[in-house]
Formats: sequence, structure tokens, C-alpha cells
Amino acid sequence: MVVQDKVAVITGAASGIGRKTACRYAEHGASVVVADVDAEGGAETVERISDDGGEATFVETDVTDPTEVRTAIETAVDEYGDLDVLFNNAGIEGSLNELAEWDDEAIEPVIDVNLKGVFYGLKYGIEAMLATGGGSIINTSSVGAATGINGRSMYCATKAGVNGLTRTAAVEYAEDDIRVNSVLPGTTDTPMIRRSDQERDTDRLQLNTSDAMEGRGQPRHLADAVLFLGSDLSARVTGVELPVDGGFLA
Ligand code: NAI
Repeated sequence: MVVQDKVAVITGAASGIGRKTACRYAEHGASVVVADVDAEGGAETVERISDDGGEATFVETDVTDPTEVRTAIETAVDEYGDLDVLFNNAGIEGSLNELAEWDDEAIEPVIDVNLKGVFYGLKYGIEAMLATGGGSIINTSSVGAATGINGRSMYCATKAGVNGLTRTAAVEYAEDDIRVNSVLPGTTDTPMIRRSDQERDTDRLQLNTSDAMEGRGQPRHLADAVLFLGSDLSARVTGVELPVDGGFLA
């Protein structure tokens, strides 16, 4: 029970990595605010947690809207009295096209969700943690922040931007006991990657990557890494980019 009695806000918790992490936090004794634009999926995550005897509440949240992000964070403080952990995990891949084929307007949603969404989470999460005495923030980046991925130029660019936000926030707020870290998932078996697999229908758009370890990463691998970074087991860890990628970047 490494996060017993902690309060966590998790964005993108209606699916994939976010959902698994929300369940894992609840299993380990945390109260969880499930924040996602997908109300149906969010309700299902809360139901799974409740069925297992855990504590969670859903707040419909579009991370591109700073007011909604702030509301999700305020819900944690109002309902559970604290904010110990914030997992800024919501993300989208956007278009699958080689760079010169991207429509100009297609870059905006990727920047809005992946970069601005994390910025708003950091801003309002830090504001709350300054008032409640510190905490741990984890941002979902990607191995795509460290290497090119066919067809995903803006995705890779925004995920590299997430690491810039992580490092800066880590040094700015270390003295306030707020730790900020990134996780870099490798290819992980979620609805996002299954959609992506189906879209990659030409040779030039095939995934140019494979892990050193056998098989594909699972959401639980990310959930456990985020559990570590949100717990006191990582009390001296801040400003890092932790690949959870089966050795892909090694
Ligand atoms: P997923 O598609 O299963 O889940 C993403 C969740 O984010 C969904 O519940 C979706 O509703 C939510 N979301 C999307 N836009 C939103 C918005 N504007 N506001 C609030 N919520 C929003 O995807 P997965 O794989 O679980 O992805 C989670 C994170 O992991 C993302 O940031 C993704 O970029 C990152 N990642 C995933 C990898 C993979 O192979 N699955 C690899 C590297 C990074």
C-alpha cells in the first residue's frame, strides 16, 4: 500500500495507461480523481475501482481547457482534502503522415492536448500543491521524445516539449517539496496503439521501432512506474525521464 491515504488526480484515466494507473493507485489505498473528456470510459474506470472496494470520482475534463483542468484539481482538494499526486497523462497521436504531408491545421490539436494540456495541469497542480504542502507530478511523455517515429512528427515534438516542462518545473519547485518527473512509454498495448497499428497501412509508415525485450509493454508496466514516482519510495527523484520501454532506448 505504497500510496495509502494519498489523493491523486489522473488525466486520460478513461482508457489505457491512465485507467490502469487509476486502478493501481486505488488498490494501493489512494483516493483517485478520474479526469477525462470521455464520460462513459471515465464512469467505467470509477465503477471498476468501486467494485474492488476503492475510492474514486469522475470529473469530465478536457485538458485543453484550463478552467476544466483547474476544476478537476479543485475537486481533489474539496472532496478528499488534499492533492498528493497528479498524473498528466491524457494524450493523442494526431495525424499519421510524413511531415510534408501534414495539413497545417492538423498540428493544433496535438499541441493543445499533449503540450498545453500538460502545462495547465502543471500550473494548477503546482498551485494546489503549494497550498497543501508539496506532492509529486508525473507527466506522460514518450520514447518519441528521444527518437523519431515514422508519421508522428508533431507527436514527437510535443512529447519532447513535455520533458522540457518536466525539467523546468522540477528545478523551479524542488524547494517547495514538489517533485516532477516524466515517464516515457515505449509501445504499450492500449486502444491508442491498436488504432495506430491499423492505420499504418503503407511501408513508409510502418513502426520503425522494436523493444529489446520480447513482446509489447502493457499498461500495468506504466502503472507500476507511476506508482513508484508518486510514492515516497521515490522521495529523492525529481526531473527524470524514465523510459518504460523494454530497453528500446538502451
Ligand atoms: P488511450 O487512447 O488508450 O487513452 C488516452 C486517454 O486520453 C483517453 O481516455 C482519452 O479520452 C483521453 N484524452 C484524449 N484527449 C483528451 C482531452 N483533450 N482531455 C482529456 N482527456 C483526453 O491511450 P494510452 O496509450 O493509454 O495513452 C496514454 C498516454 O501515453 C498518452 O499521453 C500517450 O501519448 C502516451 N503514450 C502511449 C504509448 C502507447 O504505445 N500506448 C507510447 C508512448 C506514449
